[in-house]
Amino acid sequence: MGAVEGEREEMLRTEGVKKHFGSVRAVDGVSMRVERGEIVSLVGPNGAGKTTLLNLISGLIRPDSGRIYFLGRDVTGMRPSQLVRMGMARCFQISNVFENLTVLENLLAAVHSIEGSISPLRRYDEEEAVEKAVRVLREFGLDGKAHLTPKELSHGDRKLLDVAIAYALRPKMILLDEPTAAMSVGEKRTTVGVIKKLRDQLGVTVLLVEHDLDVVYEVSDRIIVMHQGTVLAEGRPEEVRENPKVREVYLG
Ligand SMILES: Nc1ncnc2c1ncn2[C@@H]1O[C@H](COP(=O)(O)OP(=O)(O)O)[C@@H](O)[C@H]1O
Ligand SMILES: [Mg+2]
Repeated sequence: MGAVEGEREEMLRTEGVKKHFGSVRAVDGVSMRVERGEIVSLVGPNGAGKTTLLNLISGLIRPDSGRIYFLGRDVTGMRPSQLVRMGMARCFQISNVFENLTVLENLLAAVHSIEGSISPLRRYDEEEAVEKAVRVLREFGLDGKAHLTPKELSHGDRKLLDVAIAYALRPKMILLDEPTAAMSVGEKRTTVGVIKKLRDQLGVTVLLVEHDLDVVYEVSDRIIVMHQGTVLAEGRPEEVRENPKVREVYLG
């Protein structure tokens, strides 16, 4: 029973979320929403508070004040592991793959961790787990590289592996922090394709922090611009592009 087209259904919402580090107002009262099925990009100059906001949303750190709602539930202060079980997966700016495992083993670790935490008493079928892991690798075009270690992958493929691991956790929403950082043009193209596929074919809502505005304008339904810990502007790509306040922050 899918949502009627045009109908909005809330996936994530923050209300007045604050996180200060000493005198640094990293996140200073941010209220924002992500609807189910959206690709929303969070942009803004270095130090704007984007990564801190993702850390707050994914439970890595707790807000000083404000509330966070995921799937209609108040999840403020919940641990990352609880949020993962609820369907929120996070890719890190610094990739979190296991270096000593192969690509396939990395995926298997993710499959095991989520299946084990959802139904701990179920007798585990290894063959089924491998099948699941291979299916995910295929979705991300990594099936030919199943037996390589992460070190043997290109930078772009490592990032893809990171997203594939997050996807193996069967999320409803994925948070991505600068997935195209240090990527070649070709790798960026692939990543744009993967982000669209996550939403269009795999049904995952995406909250993306991204520096490359070409990528942002191409994939986003909505853009949230942060500056000095607050939301400076928010809207459709064409609205944000025309916004004089945004131009000022980015260009001068
Ligand atoms: N753990 C921390 N301790 C102290 N200051 C921090 C910490 N994390 C982030 N900051 C500061 O908070 C501000 C926002 O940082 P960040 O969220 O990383 O911004 P962005 O991801 O938009 O570049 C910066 O001034 C940064 O130096
Ligand atoms: Mg950052």
